[in-house]
Amino acid sequence: MHNVRTVNEDVIWLGASDRRIALFENAYPVPKGMSYNSYLIKDEKTCLMDGVDTAVLTKFMANLEFALGGRDLDYMVVQHMEPDHCAAIPALLSKYSNLKIVASQKALDMIKQFFDIDLGDKAMAIKEADTLNLGKHELKFFAAPMVHWPEVMVTYDAKDGLLFSADAFGEFGSLDGGIFADEVDWERDWLDEARRYYVNIVGKYGAQTLALLNKAKALDIKMILPLHGHIWRENLDLIIGKYQSWATYTPEENSVAIFYGSIYGNTENAAEILATKLSEKGVRNVRVYDVSKTDVSELVSKAFQYKALVFASATYNGEIFDGMHTLITDLKNHNLSKRTVALIDNGSWAAIAGKKMREMVESMKEMTVLEPVVSLKSAVSEANVAELEELADSLVDLLNQ
Ligand SMILES: Cc1cc2nc3c(=O)[nH]c(=O)nc-3n(C[C@H](O)[C@H](O)[C@H](O)COP(=O)(O)O)c2cc1C
Ligand SMILES: [Fe+2]
Ligand SMILES: [Fe+2]
Repeated sequence: MHNVRTVNEDVIWLGASDRRIALFENAYPVPKGMSYNSYLIKDEKTCLMDGVDTAVLTKFMANLEFALGGRDLDYMVVQHMEPDHCAAIPALLSKYSNLKIVASQKALDMIKQFFDIDLGDKAMAIKEADTLNLGKHELKFFAAPMVHWPEVMVTYDAKDGLLFSADAFGEFGSLDGGIFADEVDWERDWLDEARRYYVNIVGKYGAQTLALLNKAKALDIKMILPLHGHIWRENLDLIIGKYQSWATYTPEENSVAIFYGSIYGNTENAAEILATKLSEKGVRNVRVYDVSKTDVSELVSKAFQYKALVFASATYNGEIFDGMHTLITDLKNHNLSKRTVALIDNGSWAAIAGKKMREMVESMKEMTVLEPVVSLKSAVSEANVAELEELADSLVDLLNQ
């Protein structure tokens, strides 16, 4: 049975959620599942804006048939050729024989790679600033390379001020009836998952995301319709402001996130002592994370959120402890920059984690290592406590700047 919602008088949401999925992209834990949005514009022509993942294909096909209400499907716009939005293409081509696929040339080439389908005259290649007339609605396409794939196009409908934003402005998590951000307590319940989605999926490409935001500034946008998560029709400045911060690697939280990697608990002890001192000195919202426990996608997201980061790691076979090594590698891979980092290391015979963490952090852009680097020799000593006090003061100074 179909399950659709009206977006406005001409646009219908045909999406569906997958609550059984454990890992999105087989990489990111999604405890709240994942949603896949697709939209049908019903004008003189009918036009489908993207499709869905295999997991919800059956639901989607039923939704589309219902939403078309007996009409034929004229166009499908493929904003990027990623399987989580394109699984339906072969089924749609066989069911709707007049269907034309509208996409960038690169995306059209990828359709051949994924499906071995020769679209022939069913393919309509579009590029930056091209338009597609549907009757009352005229769609205009804008390139948004690397947000999230190289061939991404986003689509603007000037009639209603709709921005179909592809993966930009997406979120992890299923939709529970409310498809508009104003139908949920978005900041309380969804902001963290929107950040974790952006940072991990697109975070590396801040410059490209900023380019898209700048293109969007020239448009009169009344609604943002992403391919995952909620549609924005109120308070658009909230999500655009967040994207502005994330794309420019600007921290949102003037506080300290402490990440520790500890085998026996002594490095953990140092992390907790530092957290206590910071809180006593008036720093609000200090967070402490065990890198062996919390998924790295969450850690990377928190590192994007916080202004000051502390990496505390035991030495492990002459290396940084595994989870910490993974975290810093991931932060570098996601181009995190403009952060101040404090370091704590530990070793019983040859502590080297601090030196190695410093090398990694200094290889990243616009990163500052805060002195002193606190080095434990197995357990936290009285001298270490004094150094942690000094470090806490330096962090407080930084936050007060
Ligand atoms: C498998 C393994 C490898 C280790 N390798 C090193 C090392 O290369 N150099 C060193 O000084 N300590 C090494 N250690 C010791 C720990 O780094 C050290 O005991 C440290 O104090 C542990 O801190 P923690 O209490 O936070 O786990 C190793 C420990 C283990 C279990
Ligand atoms: Fe994507
Ligand atoms: Fe996607």
